[in-house]
Amino acid sequence: MKTDPSTSPSTSPSTSLRATRTADAVRVGVIGGGLMGREVASAFGRWFALDGFPVRAELTAVCDLQPALLEWFRQVPTVRLLTADYLELLARDDVDVVYVAVPHHLHEKITTAVLGAGKDLFAEKPFGIDLASARRIAAEAGKRGRFARVSSEFPFLPGAQRALRQATGGALGHLLEVRCSYLHSSDLDPQKPVNWKRQVEFCGEAGVMADLGLHVAHLPLRLGWKPASVYAQLQKIYTTRPDGRGGTAACDTWDNATLHCTAAINGSSVPMTWEMKRMAPGETNTWIFEVLGTDGGARYSTKEPKTFWTYARDGGEQRWAKTDLGFSTPFKAITGGIFEPGFPDVLMQMWASFLAERAGMLGDKFGCATPDEAVASHEVWAAALESQRRGAVVTLT
Ligand SMILES: NC(=O)c1ccc[n+]([C@@H]2O[C@H](COP(=O)([O-])OP(=O)(O)OC[C@H]3O[C@@H](n4cnc5c(N)ncnc54)[C@H](O)[C@@H]3O)[C@@H](O)[C@H]2O)c1
Repeated sequence: MKTDPSTSPSTSPSTSLRATRTADAVRVGVIGGGLMGREVASAFGRWFALDGFPVRAELTAVCDLQPALLEWFRQVPTVRLLTADYLELLARDDVDVVYVAVPHHLHEKITTAVLGAGKDLFAEKPFGIDLASARRIAAEAGKRGRFARVSSEFPFLPGAQRALRQATGGALGHLLEVRCSYLHSSDLDPQKPVNWKRQVEFCGEAGVMADLGLHVAHLPLRLGWKPASVYAQLQKIYTTRPDGRGGTAACDTWDNATLHCTAAINGSSVPMTWEMKRMAPGETNTWIFEVLGTDGGARYSTKEPKTFWTYARDGGEQRWAKTDLGFSTPFKAITGGIFEPGFPDVLMQMWASFLAERAGMLGDKFGCATPDEAVASHEVWAAALESQRRGAVVTLT
């Protein structure tokens, strides 16, 4: 066990801690210790659950503005620095990779600082508040020659991986349609207090597309199914919400987005629907990928987390077959093969993919979303905003 001798525990505003240290581990710093920052700490806390994974990793430093959140990270034994100043975290030698999980208006400033400090970057989506911002971050990563990827965990679910294989397996016949959705419903409650994700200034003009969109876009973009055109139906439902302090605050982002796209797939123009909704009755965190062809089809939804549906046509009969999938995650884990994976598992799988690719050991396994894919998703959101303004189909170049 090593101890950081550089500062005393009473140093303010940062705190240096006694920490355990795994030799040769990749040392990760987190900027933004909110919902996602803590989820990532949890993944590293049980990294040993990955069976025979060649890269060790540990969380060494955390930055957040909220003292109570920093306190929470005190229970993570490998953490050596708690600070409210991200520049202090970036100046540390014991940080190799930085995960940035802050509100969208801060993405560009903080991610480019990470790259400028010579660290590798795992950025939360949407990778900048808008298209111009995403392009600048991607350019900076290229210029600095750093390894940079963007967070999108759902494709690491066994059902999503099976759907991906089905989509590329050549057994679907002529492709008829594709549907990709990510659906929430907590905003149906008008009394839910506002937060930064409901305000354009912090979330971005793309609103729900900035917030939920890369989850929908990642798999089709990886398949090369980038929309060639988009007709958007964007909805704002509640324009104010309680501000949590007894008053009312403006709530000005798009709540729901339905994008009717076309994509050039195998020489055909295929209808592809992308749905991102904060107000989808009955859906708590539902991610759906469905692809239908003349001969076959596949459907996976987190609503039935271990169920994978395949469509087939045999002679005169058609059938949807239901297959229960076990814990067949891309990276082997000690978890029993019949058990069901959930959100924390796929987040860990995504990090395993990030660290394997960074180490040149990804092989043929699924890689995390790239900066180019994040930029491409922003191109679609920009086209959708233009489509909504003009009430017309917008062609993407
Ligand atoms: N991959 C996913 O499934 C997923 C899920 C939710 C959110 N996200 C993304 O993660 C990011 C963060 O979202 P969240 O839900 O964790 O938000 P959150 O509000 O829970 O956490 C954001 C944290 O950033 C901190 N912060 C703000 N300014 C800071 C600064 N200057 N320096 C350091 N910390 C600062 C806040 O104090 C807060 O704790 C967003 O980009 C969001 O889109 C991804």
